[in-house]
Order: sequence, then structure tokens, then C-alpha cells
Amino acid sequence: MSLFTTKFTSRVVLNSPPFYLRKMARNMSTHYQNLLISRPDPAVLLITLNRPKALNALNKALITEIHQALDQAENDPEIGSIVLTGSERAFAAGADIKEMKDKKCTPAISHEKMILTNDVISVAEVYKSDFLHDWSRITRMRKPTIAAVSGYALGGGCELAMMCDIILASPTAVFGQPEINLGIIPGAGGTQRLTHAIGKSRAMELILTGRDITAQMAEAWGLVSRVVGDGEGEVVKEAVQVASTIASKGQIAIQAAKEAVNASYQLQLEEGLRLERRLFHSLFATKDQKEGMTAFAEKRKPVFTHL
Ligand code: CAA
Repeated sequence: MSLFTTKFTSRVVLNSPPFYLRKMARNMSTHYQNLLISRPDPAVLLITLNRPKALNALNKALITEIHQALDQAENDPEIGSIVLTGSERAFAAGADIKEMKDKKCTPAISHEKMILTNDVISVAEVYKSDFLHDWSRITRMRKPTIAAVSGYALGGGCELAMMCDIILASPTAVFGQPEINLGIIPGAGGTQRLTHAIGKSRAMELILTGRDITAQMAEAWGLVSRVVGDGEGEVVKEAVQVASTIASKGQIAIQAAKEAVNASYQLQLEEGLRLERRLFHSLFATKDQKEGMTAFAEKRKPVFTHL
């Protein structure tokens, strides 16, 4: 039986990353407390969130380790793309509520009262640290990122998936922004990225009611690029294949394409088109462009050198 299709049923096993990921991760040199890191393809870094007892709730330690792994990937010339995944039961069930619950911010009370209470310390802590700001490291990656989502992707988990360039979902995936049930709102991009992805009316409905949607609904609404076949590990297997395909292309063109697509969120159409044209022109200065077009004319596969 393939490592990717082995079936497990117990809740403990569903919470944990599959055996093949744990085995691959043992071979990697860097050790993390909350992540498994592996190279299913020499050009692909697979980052697996590994806080099974808390359904991969995103606490400070986990976010810090994700950033360390992303830095490792960005600085390694062998790596062309990154897959981020969780367990079968949860991609990530949101920001760690237990870690957040005692953070206070009480702007409604008077300044006099604030400085007489401990609240001023909490306000300062949340405000000065710009709580959640640093979560967006993944959006600044130059190398493409793919979220492979099984199970819960709620709150910060959904936001983390939306920070990736591509989302693939297993049929078990559940997406939602339930923060309203906690008396807060999404704080890591949910109100903005979800609205861009699925439109105002649908985003409003999800954010204001806190209800979840299935993988199939997420696909129909354009939140994920597609739902991948059934079975444990299938979504990770597919994500790794997509990542390998991306990593096999000329990496300068890949990064230029990513930059141009992302610019469509920031720029007016005319400016975006100008940026695209300039990036397109600049690629004619690369060896990969010569190789790609020569290989086509010679009816052979290109060998890109990323130069
Ligand atoms: N933070 C901390 N712990 C969490 C967690 C979270 N977001 N989600 C789940 N857990 C913990 C539970 O407390 C529980 O721990 P214990 O065994 O120690 O009690 C363990 O994970 C398993 O969870 P459940 O027993 O609740 O499992 P379930 O199958 O009954 O329910 C669930 C699963 C529907 C995902 C439920 O756990 C849940 O609703 N979680 C919270 C989801 C949520 O509200 N996310 C948004 C967080 S706020 C946010 O993300 C803000 C932002 O914008 C960044």
C-alpha cells in the first residue's frame, strides 16, 4: 500500500501528521518543536504543522517556527517552492485562543483609569507588539507557496491558507472565520483576503455569522483552486506534485509571474499591465528565456539554470 494512501481511523492518528511525514522529517537536520520539515522532492520544502493536541492552533512558538522554516526555504537555492500542511483533522483551528484570552485592550475606559490599572500594560503589549502583524511573513515569500488543507482551516488557519499562493483542499476541509463567536473579528487578513477571494456578500455572511463552509463550497466560491481526491495524504501528494512542477520551471520567470499576479491586488489595471510588460521585457535578459525558446524550436525539454 502506498505511503500516501494508507488509511487510518483513530482520532489520535488523524490529529497527527501521517507516518511517512514523520519518517521523512526525522531525516532533516533542523529540529522544530511544532513543525515537521521534509523534502519530498529536492526542490520542494514541505512544512507540516505539528501541534496535534491543539488542532494546530497557531501560538507564538508555532508562528515563529513557520517563519524560521520559510527563511530556510527562501535562502536555499535548491528549493523552488513550499507546501504548507497540517494533519488530516486540522490544517489549523485558528490563533491559539488560550494564549490570546488574557490579552486586554480597554480603549473605552478613561486614560486616568487605564494608568491606574494593569490594563495599560496589556494595551501596550498588544499595541506595541502590533499583535498578528508578523504573521504575514509568508506573503512576502518570493518563492511560491501552496497550502494543502485537510480538516479545519478556521480563523487564523483559514487566514494562513489564504496567505499562500495556491490552496488545494481535501474533501474533508472546512473553512471559516468564526472569530465573531469569540467576540472579535478576523485579525490576520480575513476581512480583506476572504472578500477578495469570494466577494463581499459571501465574505460578510461567513464573517458575520461565523459559519463554516465545506471544501466543495470553497471550490465553488473560488476560495480554493480545487478539491483533490479522497484519501489520507492525497491533498499533500497533489500539492507536492504541483510544487515540483513549479520548481522545475525557470525560477526567475516563476518569481516574476508571482510578483505580477500579486500586484493585481495593489495596482490599478493600467499600472498592473505596465508592470507586467516591464517584467516580461526583463525576462528577455535571462538565459532561461533563451533556453526555453531554443528548446521549443529544437523539440526538446528545456534545462533551466535559473540565470
Ligand atoms: N486555540 C486553542 N486551542 C484550540 C483551538 C484554538 N483555536 N482550537 C482547538 N483547540 C483545542 C481545544 O481546546 C482542545 O484542547 P483540550 O483537549 O485541551 O480541551 C483540542 O484543541 C481539541 O479541540 P475540541 O475538543 O474543541 O475538538 P472538536 O472536534 O470538538 O472541535 C473545533 C473542533 C470545531 C475546531 C473547535 O476546537 C473549535 O471551535 N476551535 C476554535 C476555532 C476558532 O474559533 N478559531 C478562531 C480562533 S481566533 C483567530 O484565529 C483570530 C485571528 O483572526 C487570527
